[in-house]
Amino acid sequence: MSKKILVTGGCGYIGSHTVRELQRQNYDVVVFDNLVHGHLAAVEDAPVIIGDLLNPQEIRRVFVRHPDIAGVIHFAAYLEVGESMEQPGKYFRNNIQGTVNLLEAMLDAGVKHLVFSSTCAVYGTPERVPVTEEEPIKPESVYGASKRMAEQVMEWYDQVKGIRFTPLRYFNAAGASFDARIGDAYKPATRIIPVLMEYLLGQRERFFINGDDYPTPDGTCIRDYIHVDDLATAHIAALDYLWDGGESMAFNIGTGRGTSNMEIVDMVREVTGRDFEVEFGPRRPGDPVRIWADNTRAREVLGWKPRYGLREIIETSWLWHSTHPDGFG
Ligand SMILES: NC(=O)c1ccc[n+]([C@@H]2O[C@H](COP(=O)([O-])OP(=O)(O)OC[C@H]3O[C@@H](n4cnc5c(N)ncnc54)[C@H](O)[C@@H]3O)[C@@H](O)[C@H]2O)c1
Repeated sequence: MSKKILVTGGCGYIGSHTVRELQRQNYDVVVFDNLVHGHLAAVEDAPVIIGDLLNPQEIRRVFVRHPDIAGVIHFAAYLEVGESMEQPGKYFRNNIQGTVNLLEAMLDAGVKHLVFSSTCAVYGTPERVPVTEEEPIKPESVYGASKRMAEQVMEWYDQVKGIRFTPLRYFNAAGASFDARIGDAYKPATRIIPVLMEYLLGQRERFFINGDDYPTPDGTCIRDYIHVDDLATAHIAALDYLWDGGESMAFNIGTGRGTSNMEIVDMVREVTGRDFEVEFGPRRPGDPVRIWADNTRAREVLGWKPRYGLREIIETSWLWHSTHPDGFG
């Protein structure tokens, strides 16, 4: 019989791609989402239980209704750095208390394996690139801190209750499914690629890059963009690792390659065949100059590797956004 996986936040961007990949690999899936940012249409063939992690009864009931859940992938959280600095309570409550409620429900049900969406934001501005998991942890935003605190909560549940977990510290999720059925529908768009797509579709009047005077070859910031389908396979590899008896451990999930904002612009011009104007705004406070992953641990321990690069990210993003200008709406 196939194993059943609970996916919290499975109606969201990364969650819905992971649900599809789980189903492709013949896992049974149950999704739990409060639809604050998620979309029912993003999940085609799995049961979706609408509920809020901040309500302990609602998440506990999921395990009662599905006593055969063998593992959990936990995406449900808020993730906007800027908003987290304005509304810290919203982030600490959802990202930490929500995680505590999930862990307690798992304990009640005897479920001991958890894959957690963490983020490279736990490293803040790294001292070295590429960033390994040994990089000092020093988040520079409430969002990053909330994710690190959630990791620490899990460390204690491992120590005192034996729940084993893998924080996957993703770099920048990007791209969409290759058949353009699902993609990034987060509104308002804040990530550079969807913002640029909205601009090309006439939904924004101007397109800005924040800062062109950074000490990088073209003056713009450098990030590690990882295709969302590569993130999906990393989660399944992490669950397999835990089921095989692997100990709790964090993994950096990125391509290992840095891409500047201008390289994105160039690839978008090439893929779409459109030329467009780029304006440069001031630097955004707190933006690290450059950050990309050392993914050696994930490759060696999980046997995972990214399959896609910037071209596939831009091609799938363009296909998704141009066929779904209003997301799922
Ligand atoms: N997108 C990125 O580049 C990125 C990078 C690093 C880490 N992450 C992490 O990955 C995870 C998923 O990110 P995403 O981009 O898919 O975001 P998303 O907003 O599309 O997905 C999150 C989902 O969780 C749901 N949710 C939020 N709070 C909930 C609650 N209390 N109860 C039930 N459901 C709730 C939302 O409705 C949404 O469907 C997040 O935990 C985020 O911190 C994302």
